[in-house]
Parts: sequence; structure tokens; C-alpha cells
Amino acid sequence: MTKGTPDACAVVIFGASGDLASKKLLPALHNLQVDGFIPKETALLGTARTRFTHEQFAADTRKDLEKNSRISPTDDSWATFASDIFYVPGDVNDPALFQELKQKLEEIDERCGTGGNRVWYLSTLPAMFATIAEQLGKEGLLDTAGWHRLVVEKPFGHDLASARQLNTDLLRTFAEDQVFRIDHYLGKETVQNLLVFRFANAIFEPIWNRRYVDSVQITFAEDFGVGSRGKFYEDTGALRDVAQNHLMQLLSLTAMEPPVAWDADAIRDEKVQVLKAVRRWTPSECGEVAVRGQYKGYRDEDGVDVRSSTETYIAMKLRIDNWRWEGVPFYLRTGKCMAETLTEIAIQFQRVPHLLFAKTAVEELEPNVLVIRIKPDEGISLTFGTKIPGPEVEVRTVDMDFDYEADFGSGTAEAYERLLLEAMLGDATLFTRSDEIEQAWEIVDPIREHWMQGGRPGSYDEGSWGPRAATELLTRDGRSWRNGRS
Ligand code: BG6
Repeated sequence: MTKGTPDACAVVIFGASGDLASKKLLPALHNLQVDGFIPKETALLGTARTRFTHEQFAADTRKDLEKNSRISPTDDSWATFASDIFYVPGDVNDPALFQELKQKLEEIDERCGTGGNRVWYLSTLPAMFATIAEQLGKEGLLDTAGWHRLVVEKPFGHDLASARQLNTDLLRTFAEDQVFRIDHYLGKETVQNLLVFRFANAIFEPIWNRRYVDSVQITFAEDFGVGSRGKFYEDTGALRDVAQNHLMQLLSLTAMEPPVAWDADAIRDEKVQVLKAVRRWTPSECGEVAVRGQYKGYRDEDGVDVRSSTETYIAMKLRIDNWRWEGVPFYLRTGKCMAETLTEIAIQFQRVPHLLFAKTAVEELEPNVLVIRIKPDEGISLTFGTKIPGPEVEVRTVDMDFDYEADFGSGTAEAYERLLLEAMLGDATLFTRSDEIEQAWEIVDPIREHWMQGGRPGSYDEGSWGPRAATELLTRDGRSWRNGRS
């Protein structure tokens, strides 16, 4: 499926001196240009409070590319990229900034032929999103002949009420189909492949339901702590940082019905249906189905309160009340400072009903597990029982494995490259719709509210698989977590 090349446009990054811009956005734009996915006339206009000159911004951008880009800049690629980089410093609360941006963009249109097309990328503190959108409308920056798309970074709101409010604020100036809410997990090849795997292969669909599936585990583990992001993390916690967005996306892609078409609305309609069917736990049930943890050294991290009760780990059990999934528990967990960095979805199938082989007990024979490895070692594996060679009929579990790198090589585009390209093309399939965001908040909000009533996260050792209560969450159901690839 080829989508063509987007129109030349100006990409305006608010928060251009920040970490995300330097690590992800600037390299993504450079690489898209080098790979020929976007026209070389594409212009970049950075803005932030830092009082860079245009030259300083360009020089820093080159350093960022050298440090963070998948493709290192050559003199040629840099010359093409640098010829259309601009910077305007200022405060988003000051209307004068928007007038300056407007003027600069008119010059850019003249010089680069960007035709009034704009990607407005909000990579600032979330508290500024609504102000920026409002100012863009008020100060007339949207009155051009071209198209306008607003890209909004996560976190989208800090609870259901604030997410609803932010939707209302943004939709006052932009139409829903102009708003591209980023969840960078949707830009990952392995996540997109989940849909291809499910719907381009006839053999999985008939068994992808409660009749064959025992349970599903979704793990998003990282073997490092909050590092320099302590201050941000302290107000965010694992529930808002990962569970409300990345985990809910993986859940909905795993559990959704086949969409009627491969387009933004058809796919997102089905994802929303899944989220709607997820049972809302009452506050009293939350204590039974959700566990929070904090790694032992967290309170010593920079920017973290010494008495902090922010969770760096969460595990939860969800139920999807629909025909396909009734009775199948979905266990989701995420944590910092865990034993491994690993994101995977494991579909555990039911055990065989009766075992013919006297030498192996039913409980000894592992059920089939299909594991979709999102990162690292991207791939898919299926375990199944096989006969151990020899005169006795003894069974052991082995793996059938697909490895992305072995089949397709390394160096595939990063999530942000794909997402920026899609925004420029105006395809919202890989972005989160307003109702999707709100449904995801509805699922996690009762857990957050329950925790606010008191108690503390259970502590866990760095390098472990989380607090004891998380193990018990599954033991109570007669199951256990898959801990690592072993
Ligand atoms: C971000 C979270 O959204 O995703 C981080 O804020 C997390 O806490 C990161 O580390 C993980 O992303 P990736 O692409 O490295 O798996």
C-alpha cells in the first residue's frame, strides 16, 4: 500500500529546545528527508522560551542529529535540512510570539513553497496545550490557504475530567480530524504488525477468543529507573505514564474485532468498542484487582519527594465483557527498575483436556503460548509440546520463533518518523481519537481514585519483577506471571 509523498509544509515545534525535540523529533524529520519520504522543501520552525538565535538553534540541531539520529547527517543531508530550519524564541502566553511566528511562516511559504500547510507540534508542558491552540486561532495563524494539523504529545490530561476538558479546549479551534494525539507505541512496527498478524492470517482468528484462550498477559517492563525525569515522574506515576496510554493501546489492538476497512475511523471504532467493554471496577474492587509498587531507591532520585507515594509499578487485572472475551482475564503490568527491559503480549491458550502420555502429567505440560515481542528482540514466538527423542513418550515445550531482524534486517524507521509522516499525510489511523482517550481514562481512573484514599505502594527490589502483591494477584487465580523470556 503506497500513500505517496505529503505536500511540502512547515512543521512548527513548540518546545523545540526540549528533550523530545532533540532526541526524537528533529532526528525523525531529518531521516524522513534523507529517506525521501517528505519533500526537501519541508521547513522546520522551532519555538521555545530559550533565547537561541537562529544559528545557535541550527548548530544545536546538528549536534542532536549526530548524537541521537538513526541516520547520521552527512554534509549533503545536513545542507538540505539546514537550509530550511528557523527559530523564533518566545512565551506562548504572549500574543506577540504568535504574530512573530505568523510573519516568519509567511516568509517560509514564500521561500520554501510550503503553501500555508502546517503541522503544529505541541511538545511543551501539557498545561500549555490549550493556550497554544487558542492563540493559533485567535491570532489568525490558521487563516492560510493550506491545511493545518495539530499534533499533541502525551500525557493527554491527568485524569478523566482534565482529558475531557482538554478535548473540549482543542476542539474549539481545531476539528477532530485535524487533531493527532500521539501515543508513540502506535508508530512501532511491531505494534502495527499486531493487526496484520491477526487479520492477514486465517489460522489465528478462529482461536482468538474465550473458547481457546485461557488468559492474556501484557508486560511493559524497563530495567532502568526514572533517571533525570524524577520531577516529571513524581507527578505522573506509572498509571498515567504508561498504563493509561501504551498499555490500553496494546490491549485494544489485541482484543478488538476485525475492522470493516483499513482506515482511521474503522480501526478506531473497533478499538473504542473494546475499551467500552472493559469492566469498570468499583473503588472497592480496585483493591483486589490492582497493585501498585515503588522501587526501593525511588525516593532517593533527583526531583522525588523523600516520602513519595508515587507508583513506579502497576499491575492490574481487567475483564472484557463481550462475546469474544467473557471470562478471559487480561493481566497488564508496567514498571521501572524491573529485572529486564521487555514489552510483550502473551496469549496463553487453554491446557489440553486430557493427556495420553503416562510419563507427563497434565500440569507438567505447559499450555501453548503465543508471544508477540514488541521490544527488544522484536518478533513472535509460539510454544508447543513436542516429543523428547527416545524410547519413552515424554513431552517438552519448544519454541517456534520469528525474529524481525533476522528476516528484515535492522535499521527500520523509528516510531516518531512514521508518526510525523502520517500526520503530514493527514492519516489519523495511528493516532488516538478523543473518545478513545476518554474511554482509557474511564478504565484507570477508579484505580487512581482508590489509591488516593490512602495506603502506599508496596516496595520492590530494583532488578526484581515487582512487589509481592503482584505475584499474589495471579496466584489467587491459579496462574503466574511470565517472568522474562525464560
Ligand atoms: C514513554 C514513557 O511514553 O515511553 C517512558 O513516558 C518510557 O517512561 C517510554 O520509558 C518507553 O518508550 P520506548 O519506545 O522506549 O519503549
